[in-house]
Amino acid sequence: MTLIDGKALSATIKEEIAAEVEKIKASGNKVPHLAAVLVGEDPASAVYVRNKVRSCEKVGFKSTLLKRPADITEEEVLELVHKLNDDDDIDGFIVQLPLPKHINEERITLAIDPRKDVDGFHPVNVGRMALGLPCYLPATPFGILTMLERYGIETSGKHAVVIGRSNIVGTPMSILLSRKSKTGNCTVTLTHSRTKDLPAFAREADIIIAAIGIPEFVKGDMVKEGAVVIDVGINRVEAPDRPRGYKLVGDVAFDEVAPKCSFITPVPGGVGPMTVTSLLLNTLKANRNEVYR
Ligand code: GUN
Repeated sequence: MTLIDGKALSATIKEEIAAEVEKIKASGNKVPHLAAVLVGEDPASAVYVRNKVRSCEKVGFKSTLLKRPADITEEEVLELVHKLNDDDDIDGFIVQLPLPKHINEERITLAIDPRKDVDGFHPVNVGRMALGLPCYLPATPFGILTMLERYGIETSGKHAVVIGRSNIVGTPMSILLSRKSKTGNCTVTLTHSRTKDLPAFAREADIIIAAIGIPEFVKGDMVKEGAVVIDVGINRVEAPDRPRGYKLVGDVAFDEVAPKCSFITPVPGGVGPMTVTSLLLNTLKANRNEVYR
C-alpha cells in the first residue's frame, strides 16, 4: 500500500510555481495576483481563505483579501464582483462559498467573468470542461487528477466509482475521469444517496473517489483488493480527548480500507492540500492568458 502524500506533493508543486514566478519577475512581466472575497464569519471559510492567501504569499503571488460583513447586500457583493472583473491588476478571484442565506450564490457566480473564474464554478467553465475545451478546472477534481498523474497511477480502461454528485467535486470528477485524456479514459459510475446497493458498485471499482460528506462511509468490505482510494471528505467528529474537542475524518474508514489498497489518500494531508495548489495553478494560467486567448 502506498500512501499518497498530498502535503508533500503540494509543497513540491508550490516550489515549481515559485520558480515560475521568479522567471516572470526576471522577464519584467506582471506577477500573478489572486483576490479572495470572504463574506461573514463562518470559521471554516475563514480558515480556507487564510490558507489560500498565505499560499499566494509563499509562491510569490500578489494577493488581496476582501472581507465583508455578513449583512452585506447581494447588490453590494455584485458591485464588488464587477469591480474585480474590471480590475486589470487582478488575474483571477474567488468568492468563498457558502454565502449568507440572503445572497443568491448562483447570481454571484454568474456575475464573475469566466476569464477570471479561477474556481472554475462559472457555467462557461463547467461547459468547457465537459466538452474538453481549455478551461479552469475546479480545484478539488484538478488536485485529484494531479495526484493520480504524479503518482503514475494508470486510469485508462479502469472502472472508477465516484461516490457523491456535488457540483464542485463528484459531478466534474465523473466527467473528467471519463474523458479521452491523460488522466481519463476510465469507465465511470457516478453513485449517490439514491443509488441502490452502492457497496456493490464500490466493490467493483479499480478507483474510488469518496466525496459524499459522511464520516467513514466507505468500509473495508466495500473495497476491492488493490483498489486506489481517494478520500475527499473532511468531516469534524467529536473527540473529547483532542485539544479542540474534535478530530477530522474522511469519508473512508481508513484503518479498515488502507490495508486493501494499492494507493490511498490520508485525511488530513491528502486531497485537502492539493486544492490550494490547484487554485494557484489556475491563477498562474490566468496570469498567462492560457485559457482564454
Ligand atoms: N467553499 C468550499 N470549497 C470552495 C472552493 O473551492 N471555492 C470557493 N469559492 N468556495 C468554496
